[in-house]
Amino acid sequence: MAQYTIAVLVGSLRKGSCNRRLARALEKLAEGRARFDYVEIGDLPLYNQDNDGDYPAEGLRLKQQIRDADAVLFATPEYNRSVPGVLKNAIDLGSRPYGDSAFAGKPAAVVGASIGAIGSALAQQHLRNILAYLDMQVLSQPEVFIHFKDGLIDEDGSVSNADTAKFLQSFVERFLALIKVYGQRD
Ligand code: FNR
Repeated sequence: MAQYTIAVLVGSLRKGSCNRRLARALEKLAEGRARFDYVEIGDLPLYNQDNDGDYPAEGLRLKQQIRDADAVLFATPEYNRSVPGVLKNAIDLGSRPYGDSAFAGKPAAVVGASIGAIGSALAQQHLRNILAYLDMQVLSQPEVFIHFKDGLIDEDGSVSNADTAKFLQSFVERFLALIKVYGQRD
């Protein structure tokens, strides 16, 4: 089976981010079948349409990383019931100038974790609206709303709860199957 490259956008810049841990857990569960390429979004300039004709280097680098990937994984916290600004900025930069979006047609999946009970569900719902507009092929199910508790996933992505690990494995299988259908190569 082909080894896919999955560009990963984590919507938190925090060192101890539970969403980054969640992404690492998925990376571990997909080991040997997918390579996770973590996209740096903390150094991106704020999107400014005045710069469309002379695109910032960081924006071009982001777009190239997305283009080089077979699929995109978004792991997002919920900030004020929506997508964190840092992630929305990365998406805006990757989608412009008009007609030159790096996201169009790519398979994608959305996951999220929060210390709150709803596991970033509302942010994920907003994100799904954005990705539909960007013409991405977004995995519908399973929805991954992780109510994060201390020790659930360690920094290396090891999952302590067997049911959670099994659920995340089922997500990985569905995502890889989606990439096989919509990805640009085997
Ligand atoms: C939050 N948090 C939060 N949680 C939630 O369930 N719903 C929300 O609307 C918000 N809003 C919010 C706004 C801001 C500015 C911050 C800093 C935090 C809590 C947040 O989900 C929690 O801190 C997560 O752990 C953040 O994810 P990372 O950084 O651990 O990946």
